[in-house]
Amino acid sequence: MYQIKLFNKISAVGTSRLDPAKYACGEDLDNYDAILVRSAKLHDTAFPKACRCIARAGAGVNNIPLDRCAEEGIVVFNTPGANSNAVKELVICGLLLASRKVVQGAQWVQSLAGSPDIGPAAEKGKAAYAGPELMGKTLGVIGLGAIGWKVANAAEALGMNVLGYDPYLSDASRAALSPNVTVTTLDDVFAQADYITVHVPLLDSTRSLICADSLAKMKDGVRIVNFARGELVDTPAMADALASGKAAAYVCDFASDEILAQPNAVVLPHLGASTPESEDNCAIMACDEVSDFLENGNIVNSVNFPAVSLGQRGGSPRVLVLAKAGTDIAALLQKQGVSVSAKSEGSRGNYCAFLADVDQVLPSLDGDGILSVRTL
Ligand code: MLT
Repeated sequence: MYQIKLFNKISAVGTSRLDPAKYACGEDLDNYDAILVRSAKLHDTAFPKACRCIARAGAGVNNIPLDRCAEEGIVVFNTPGANSNAVKELVICGLLLASRKVVQGAQWVQSLAGSPDIGPAAEKGKAAYAGPELMGKTLGVIGLGAIGWKVANAAEALGMNVLGYDPYLSDASRAALSPNVTVTTLDDVFAQADYITVHVPLLDSTRSLICADSLAKMKDGVRIVNFARGELVDTPAMADALASGKAAAYVCDFASDEILAQPNAVVLPHLGASTPESEDNCAIMACDEVSDFLENGNIVNSVNFPAVSLGQRGGSPRVLVLAKAGTDIAALLQKQGVSVSAKSEGSRGNYCAFLADVDQVLPSLDGDGILSVRTL
């Protein structure tokens, strides 16, 4: 029986796919084989030896210690694309909120509640809440992954000129991107965009992507939307830009006192993926990744190990070896007299994975660089 620890509430649409004859899911497990998590921070969590994988029901994985997990032979999955429509829709809303002062206008009308002649009073004050249309303006989309390309295409359909930037543009994103979206340099995006939206993961290299220096390269009155991660934007620099008018608006999904103090900012409580559809999609994808990994050893959508897959397990034993990149796993198996009938292997960054159907159960594998060995 596999034990799956839930660190957050995971939609039952997903967990119900885990056969109760084979899986026990719960919040109070100590010795578990896998973790399902949404936003709980796992950096200080000590994982039991039995823990083989973590599936994040969502895209961002900055709540998970990826390198420590890799060193402990724990495969981390995310669910790319599963919530991308939800985020895309809210980003389009964010672009409108960055333009039309909807939130500020609504708050003001609310403040008039109970006053005499509220209708004419509201009409009289509306000029303070006017804002420009999106059509014909230039939007810069930084990051053209599963969410970014959808935002770019939707904005283009609204009549915006769209510039995109992504140094790691995948073939799938390139193919999905509207031909009217121009892929260009980051500096070009900064210089030309009236609106900028960010869709990159939070990494050391992307932290404070929007900072005093990058803001200085932007147009005066630029409007910035951030539904990715708060730390992609240097908050004091953004607050200064809003106060000076360098930025006309900032709409984000991450609360901070400095930004809340700016009247031209709109702050939401991380609602990007908060739709029932996306919670279900993420839970389904995360649960399928976990069961396919535990039962078949297949690695699909991992963020710290390469993809390997041999489909469903047949009659012969199957071994999954996780190791440091460069480890000659095939040679180690051969040395141990193991014969391989089918294999799938790959490398990603500092780590590699080797999945093989073999002729014998393998309790361990001796050799430098081996992180974990599992025979299914
Ligand atoms: C994501 O990373 O998938 C989104 O920010 C939503 C979330 O964190 O749940």
